[in-house]
Amino acid sequence: MTTVDYDTLIPNNVDLAGDRRLRRALESWHPRFIEWWKDLGPVAFQEDDVYLRTAISVEQDGWANFDYVKMPDYRWGIFLANQVPGRTIGFGDRRGDPVWQEVPGEHRSDLRRLIVVQGDTEPASVEQQRHLCLTAPSLYDLRNLFQVNVEEARHLWAMVYLLHRYFGREGREEADELLLRNSGDPDKPRILGAFNEPTPDWLSLFFFTYFTDRDGKYQLASLKESAFDPLSRTCSFMLKEEAHHMFVGATGVGRVVQRTVELMKAHDTEDVAPHGGVNVDTLQRYLNFHYSVSLDLFGAETSTNAANYFAAGLKGRFAEDQREDDHQLKGDVRAVPALDEATGTITSRDVASLSALNETMREDYTADCRKGVERWNRALVDVGLALTLPHPAFHRGVGAFRDQPVTPDGRLVTRAEHEQGQREAWLPTEADKAHVHALMQAVDEPGRMASWVAPPATGVHSKPLDFEYVRR
Ligand SMILES: [Fe+2]
Ligand SMILES: [Fe+2]
Repeated sequence: MTTVDYDTLIPNNVDLAGDRRLRRALESWHPRFIEWWKDLGPVAFQEDDVYLRTAISVEQDGWANFDYVKMPDYRWGIFLANQVPGRTIGFGDRRGDPVWQEVPGEHRSDLRRLIVVQGDTEPASVEQQRHLCLTAPSLYDLRNLFQVNVEEARHLWAMVYLLHRYFGREGREEADELLLRNSGDPDKPRILGAFNEPTPDWLSLFFFTYFTDRDGKYQLASLKESAFDPLSRTCSFMLKEEAHHMFVGATGVGRVVQRTVELMKAHDTEDVAPHGGVNVDTLQRYLNFHYSVSLDLFGAETSTNAANYFAAGLKGRFAEDQREDDHQLKGDVRAVPALDEATGTITSRDVASLSALNETMREDYTADCRKGVERWNRALVDVGLALTLPHPAFHRGVGAFRDQPVTPDGRLVTRAEHEQGQREAWLPTEADKAHVHALMQAVDEPGRMASWVAPPATGVHSKPLDFEYVRR
């Protein structure tokens, strides 16, 4: 069992004490990180006690450690999943070779890029969510937000460790840049589009953690397959934390749906807005937005980079070892969605499977997203309504359908029809946003919930719902 060494400034299970150069590099980055957290982390509650979990080992039970912590004192650190003895490369041209403990020269810049892009999203989401602590619907939710925030910040640590340990001076420069780019900054924005959008309210947070953190799950899972073993082990551990973020999203949206249904029944109406709830058509528009911008994160349908990363063993597919093909895909062909400009129809075309790996991952992601929607719909059945995932061509900013006038049910329409639809029916309207904004009133009495969301089924770590999860 690998325990985490908490005796040093930076908790770790990578024997930092034995690597002076690395320790000094990380120790010099540490105060800048803390400064970043104080400047761009949660705007309030920094001096309050939050009931947080902290990893004490990387084993299953290493997470069962809950206590009150002031966020700036959270034990951020470097935790890698245990090394798998004799691990071999699971895919690509080098399938079956031993995995790498150091970075091969020819893959140095690609690996650095993959780590930087992943690392950039982690602090970005903390920045996007920093104002939400002022309007939490309950202390339970407030605590969950902070748990997500400290873990995203730890994911930043995870990537910075790799940069410092394996990429020399360039790695250290990249690590500095991760704190200098900021979400939504006009001069130095975050790398990916969805991470520059603000998360203005809790409904957005629930959809963000359901859809956008789930993109994170798929990215991390495919990097976990990497032949570069330290990256694989890092991502493996991060995935345990990521599961909680998606739990916040899945149960958060589920609780809003439940409350909406309760209000619909109590008042015998579909319009629950006057009763302090969120209407199902508003929920659908928020879903449409967050799902479509998250689809963009997977990139274009075909990608030479993705093919090269796969062939080289840098980045695999989701659950690579559960797939029943040769894990090399040479000569394989698959269909990807396409737009036929001549006929104005959505169709498909055959391409090399290797070049279509982004699309393969997007499809796996979509199937995963659908499961949650089906669960939410079990509550909506009672009132004869349902939420649906929009067509993948709807509201896209990347790939074959970029800026195309496609409806949520996948019809190509005129630009005029499309604009009207986007404004009035398909994406959150001004009225939706104003209503949701008005609902965002902080509830800080233990056990109480805001009007628009049902209580969770259970508390955190078997504490009661009226436990004081955040103590001022
Ligand atoms: Fe993360
Ligand atoms: Fe996350």
